Amino acid sequence: MAWSLQMKTLKNKDLEKNIPKKTLAENSLNEDHKLLVQWYEKNKRSLPWRISKDPYKIWLSEVMLQQTTVTAVIPYYDKFLNLFPTVQHLADAAENEVMAAWAGLGYYSRARNLHKAAKHLAENGFPKTAAGLIEFPGFGPYTSRAVASIAFGERVGVLDGNVIRVLSRRHGLHLEWWNNKPRQELQTLSDHLALLGAPEKTNQGLMELGATVCTPKKVMCILCPWSSKCVARKNDAVELLPLKKARKKTEIWVWKPIVAIKDKKVALVKNDYAPFLKNQLIFPGQISMEKNKPKDCKLRHSITHHDIFIQVELKKNLAGTNLHWVNLSELKKVNPSSLLQKVLGQVL
Ligand code: ADE
Repeated sequence: MAWSLQMKTLKNKDLEKNIPKKTLAENSLNEDHKLLVQWYEKNKRSLPWRISKDPYKIWLSEVMLQQTTVTAVIPYYDKFLNLFPTVQHLADAAENEVMAAWAGLGYYSRARNLHKAAKHLAENGFPKTAAGLIEFPGFGPYTSRAVASIAFGERVGVLDGNVIRVLSRRHGLHLEWWNNKPRQELQTLSDHLALLGAPEKTNQGLMELGATVCTPKKVMCILCPWSSKCVARKNDAVELLPLKKARKKTEIWVWKPIVAIKDKKVALVKNDYAPFLKNQLIFPGQISMEKNKPKDCKLRHSITHHDIFIQVELKKNLAGTNLHWVNLSELKKVNPSSLLQKVLGQVL
């Protein structure tokens, strides 16, 4: 059983065992909980997904909000719900339509998993616990716990970047949160707070505090309900916490995509050769990792830590059994990445 699920069966007493004694002794979680919930009720932003308790709408918002800001998400969220107002509508939609509605949000595996999970959830309904939800595609520990607590009131804590920051600072924890054991310590703290009640407010309160007050930079401690109890603040270490994970080094790649167009159709292959857009349909071609940026290559694109320099080759003819010939007008639906549009823009 995954560690994230073990938490579900733990009782209050067991949770206390998992928190270092010092942390528990020094800090009163009961008071923290009360102050946090009061602060959230008074200061929460009015966001479209906070209007309803519909698990589908809450799930959609949580998936969209992974790796994407609230401001960027709102128009997509509204548009998506107009197109697919219920989980049944989403389950019945063609994958192309779902991908087209997601185009521009990035991290497209999120949309594919959302669609896959919708097919199961429309048929059987939503499980009401994190342990039940985590079985579905795209539901990791965070999403499962967020949906179970916000939509169904299950007393499980969430842990995302915002929550890691808030809890690390509040308790002055210099933890390598990207490793399993220290992360579990933070998860336990978050669970402990949620166990005290109103988990939908506790969890969203932590997220909200991290998003609006206890921010990575320009922290506004004066507005924080925990300011007088914050260990990082006492020690003048707010900006030092949480510890920073070393960033993945940027890699330079030279991509030579082949663009072959015939009868308004373009040849694509299932990507098993480039380290970005894995398993998606992209142009056939070649790729190599380089030490230095190539000179005289103006076409450039970045995806996560891949800095991609592009040298397009236009071909009249291309044959092969692995080719998928896709209508130019459908390309955006098949693969919404702006990288493909950029390449095509070079030759059209
Ligand atoms: N980020 C992730 N989930 C969120 C939520 N429910 N509200 C605001 N920001 C979030």
